Amino acid sequence: MKKNIIPLESGLVTNALEQPVINFSQAELLSRTYPTPFLVLSPLRIIKSINTLRENLPGVKIFYAMKSNPNPAILQIIKNLVDGIDVASFGESSVCREVGISSDNIIHTNPVKKETDLESSVKQGINWFVLDNMEEIKKIKRLAPNANLLLRIAITNPHCIVNLSAKFGAQEQEVLPILKKARAEGLNVRGISFHVGSQCTEPEIYYSAVKYARKIFDEAISAGFIFDTLDVGGGFPISYRDNLPELSVYCTVLRNALKEFFPNDLNVLMEPGRCISGGCISLVTKVIGRTIRNGVTWYYIDDGVYGAFSGKLFDKCDYRLVSNRSGSVEECVVAGPTCDSIDIVAHDQKLPKLSAGDLILVPGMGAYTIASATSFNGFAPPRTIVLHKENQIREEKSGKEIISKRQNRYAVVEM
Ligand SMILES: Cc1ncc(COP(=O)(O)O)c(C=O)c1O
Repeated sequence: MKKNIIPLESGLVTNALEQPVINFSQAELLSRTYPTPFLVLSPLRIIKSINTLRENLPGVKIFYAMKSNPNPAILQIIKNLVDGIDVASFGESSVCREVGISSDNIIHTNPVKKETDLESSVKQGINWFVLDNMEEIKKIKRLAPNANLLLRIAITNPHCIVNLSAKFGAQEQEVLPILKKARAEGLNVRGISFHVGSQCTEPEIYYSAVKYARKIFDEAISAGFIFDTLDVGGGFPISYRDNLPELSVYCTVLRNALKEFFPNDLNVLMEPGRCISGGCISLVTKVIGRTIRNGVTWYYIDDGVYGAFSGKLFDKCDYRLVSNRSGSVEECVVAGPTCDSIDIVAHDQKLPKLSAGDLILVPGMGAYTIASATSFNGFAPPRTIVLHKENQIREEKSGKEIISKRQNRYAVVEM
């Protein structure tokens, strides 16, 4: 029954750019059972990223930011590898509960919470929250008076693709007034959190952010606050089309900064999303049409910005498309399958001549992709196939397929 055993991750060129988690023969094989487009998840890649964080940041607690990819399959894989999960809503923490993650291991980091969300989260037993403004104090006092709180501070970082501090984080002059008001209301602020911005392209930012957090700590301590927690957020990038420093480089800068500015005992946690979920998933998509418009070749593929390429819009991300066709390459336009003109995946990628039916692999498709995909125009978002045994895919025509009860979106290739 089982044939065509193909080793995974063999023969792949390794450089700093993200590489597909499977090769073309494997993609071809899978596409006989699973119609394209589909995402392929490699648990091994998740484990590798977490190991890198663990090895390079000893003592720092890892809370996976599930907003980057909330697939329960990822939560199942990592729940025993990380310290907890960073959620942005009760909806996310409900998924955690479904996969057996205790509320004790959840931090709710949305600085501006809907009241019903806060209430439900507290009922679920979540006891760590983040705030960054005065108004939130009222809500927390009423609905979560015993919670452990972190005050989120804004970080200036011109070297990130998604500037989260444009929306969140107290400015320096706001910090003490917020802390004092929280104290006056009997709330328990345990420390500071920050996020340097997502897809941070400059490791040294972690040094300046930790240095700044130290300044804020000192101001708070002088005002009589007892802080014991620092949350250094996420932001660690992956290399889509540009070679960025390795994850370990970012970790080293952060580790040294923590050692320099927080040498004494402190509860330090981080909320990485992209560096865990980004590289572990590749998209397999198919060319469905080709034409020439104004002298430029246009390829139409079966996934687009309304699907897993949603990160093109929401995450300002530019993905690398990989083909196994040989021949000279030319700049072309690659467009998604919907009848909307915004649905263009790439304008400037160089690809060899492709035909309808050809497969394209897209590495680095795990973070902020399927999480924000829609079913616009009736095109269902791609499902995620989880590779079970990391070193093999076997052809199994009647392969057992387990569909997630919650999302109907992932299948497990059983060995
Ligand atoms: C509060 C918070 N923590 C963590 C993350 C994860 O960030 P990244 O995926 O850049 O690691 C985000 C991303 O938006 C966030 O808003």
